[in-house]
Amino acid sequence: MKPRIAPSVLSADMDRLAEQVAAVERGGAEWMHVDVMDGRFVPNLTFGAPLIRALGRITRLPLDVHLMVVEPERYIDEYADLGVANFTFHPEATIHVERHLARAHERGMKAGLALNPASPIGLLEEVLDELDLVLIMTVNPGYGGQEYLPAGTGKIRRVRHLLTQRNSPATLEVDGGITVGTIRRAWEAGADTFVAGTAVFGEADPAAAVVRLRQACETAV
Ligand code: DX5
Ligand code: ZN
Repeated sequence: MKPRIAPSVLSADMDRLAEQVAAVERGGAEWMHVDVMDGRFVPNLTFGAPLIRALGRITRLPLDVHLMVVEPERYIDEYADLGVANFTFHPEATIHVERHLARAHERGMKAGLALNPASPIGLLEEVLDELDLVLIMTVNPGYGGQEYLPAGTGKIRRVRHLLTQRNSPATLEVDGGITVGTIRRAWEAGADTFVAGTAVFGEADPAAAVVRLRQACETAV
């Protein structure tokens, strides 16, 4: 298995979005991570459909959309129409989680659940068979550039154990504070996909930053 890198557009320089996206493609990034925030589920407010539409035009990378919004179900159809690949939301942000996972599937998207640092793994168990992706937050969501919370490593390990036990092929993605200094512990704990905002777009050469992150999975830093 090879680590998958998903740069977070949240930290990109919007003045030259196309150029920044092209750079991470050159660096071999597999997915483009898109953080949708509504100012309610998280304190911050970011972007939605217009940016997703623009990204769809400038990149062929699958759009890995992470909804930090209340009632994420309101966006399932719209995002499916925009060609979103992965529709990941927080289970506490809605009531009928199972129904929304099923609807995302019906509309041709992969469906994922995201867990905040304080959210228990038990939130995944009843719907595990319907999950294509589990996103473990290693910061409290809302902002880029925060520090990796060390307790996340053990949680990744426990989720990997659960996926193995239940024979689930779901992607195990980690989000928050991923850098060349932290990515290896998350990889060793069993994550296979790594969101990185600051560690990619905060660097002078985002293409090289993607390459370095991937290398850091294999080499101790
Ligand atoms: C945080 C977002 C992250 C964010 C990560 O709420 O979900 O995807 O962009 O940024 P870094 O990699 O800078 O921690
Ligand atoms: Zn995210």
